[in-house]
Amino acid sequence: MAVSGAVGGVGETRRGMLAFTGWLTMALLAVQAVVAFVFFFWPRKTGAFGTVISAGKVGDYKVGDIKYFVEGKFYLVRLQEGFIALYQKCPHLGCVVPWKADFEYEGKTGWFRCPCHGSTYERTGQIVFGPAPRPMDYMKISMKGDAISVDTSAIMKRDTWVPSQAVAA
Ligand code: FES
Repeated sequence: MAVSGAVGGVGETRRGMLAFTGWLTMALLAVQAVVAFVFFFWPRKTGAFGTVISAGKVGDYKVGDIKYFVEGKFYLVRLQEGFIALYQKCPHLGCVVPWKADFEYEGKTGWFRCPCHGSTYERTGQIVFGPAPRPMDYMKISMKGDAISVDTSAIMKRDTWVPSQAVAA
């Protein structure tokens, strides 16, 4: 009597395990379906920070021009050497660095100047004074014909400005 009870117990345990495995498999398939659904229908980011942003045509800019792309968080600067895309985030503590067209220093007007602790940068992003440890970071630029694109996911640090960081027009 005791032996047959033990056999029944093992059978019930096996049935329970199979049922549990079945439910677990169903649950995993349901989760997978939900994830696939959300991934498929989630709106793709375009023209926003973290994506490649169209920044116009070479002919839209003359040497010295600076255009701010709010959605991309960068400034596109037309230098003598070509274009550079400067990330707006201050390398000191991360404040947004505005372009101050009327700020004068050492006889020159127009500087990037951080409102938080005064780090001041040339058009190239090179630090000239303030607590920032390096120049403003910059982003990868691609040219297709005369169309300019900036990859806002490709942010590069540097120790100093060198002309080869600019992309020729
Ligand atoms: Fe820009 Fe401190 S955060 S100087």
